[in-house]
Amino acid sequence: MITAGIDIGSLTADAVILRDNAVIGYKVVPTGASSENAARVAYDAALESAKMTEADVEAVAATGYGRSSVPFTQRTITEITCHAVGTRSLFRDAASVVDIGGQDSKVIRLSADGRVEDFAMNDKCAAGTGRFLEVMAAALETDLELLGELSARSTERIRISSTCTVFAESEVVALVARGVPKEDIIRGLHEAIAERIYSMVRRLRAAEPFVMTGGVAKNKGVVRAIESRLGTSLRLPEEPQIVGALGAAIMARSGGER
Ligand SMILES: Nc1ncnc2c1ncn2[C@@H]1O[C@H](COP(=O)(O)OP(=O)(O)OP(=O)(O)O)[C@@H](O)[C@H]1O
Ligand SMILES: [Mg+2]
Repeated sequence: MITAGIDIGSLTADAVILRDNAVIGYKVVPTGASSENAARVAYDAALESAKMTEADVEAVAATGYGRSSVPFTQRTITEITCHAVGTRSLFRDAASVVDIGGQDSKVIRLSADGRVEDFAMNDKCAAGTGRFLEVMAAALETDLELLGELSARSTERIRISSTCTVFAESEVVALVARGVPKEDIIRGLHEAIAERIYSMVRRLRAAEPFVMTGGVAKNKGVVRAIESRLGTSLRLPEEPQIVGALGAAIMARSGGER
């Protein structure tokens, strides 16, 4: 059976084409100003990479904050469910999911059979999210993709005390002006994100094995900081950004809540 999953996030729109249990095509594109348009672009490109047409796909499910604006699906499923299902299809023994996307961060605790037992989510502000890192990279005149590498060169530990993105940005600017090396500032930012995740993990009593999903899992500095704060390693999907869409594609087989 061929199904598709579409995850319309705040920053990226991701589409996955699934044949039984194998991903045969996927695409990640910027969401931009129109969720509807981004959904179409991601879906068409994923179909092309799978060498399929829309007519080959038997069911489509959508997730993510923009899921209700996907015109070519009737089924929508929450992000929490999709991340749980996508994660367990990749890591059979995953007990917890840490997802950091553009606009929110969440921790999900799974039961032994893979159901969502509990979750914690920060979607009230940009602090500790991918968007937070984008703002900081711009303030430091650094590429987002280099943050992980740069933080690995940090020699001195500094603490970023502001949790709010706007205040943290001012703090970063002040640290730069004081001559604090970028590497140390970036590590401080990564550790601030790790601290927020740690408090969610503690609140939920989430346990290992942990899997990290979302675009921020591509930042090795954040991964290292979370691993060190939790005192355990994180398992990483090959393409962490498409796990929600993968979960939706799996759920499309059996229908889903509207
Ligand atoms: N190559 C990369 N290196 C470092 N960070 C990256 C890379 N690619 C993406 N990111 C991070 O991933 C974030 C986007 O993540 P993702 O695509 O999971 O967000 P989203 O699903 O649109 O957001 P949300 O789920 O919050 O609505 C970016 O803000 C950025 O911080
Ligand atoms: Mg997302």
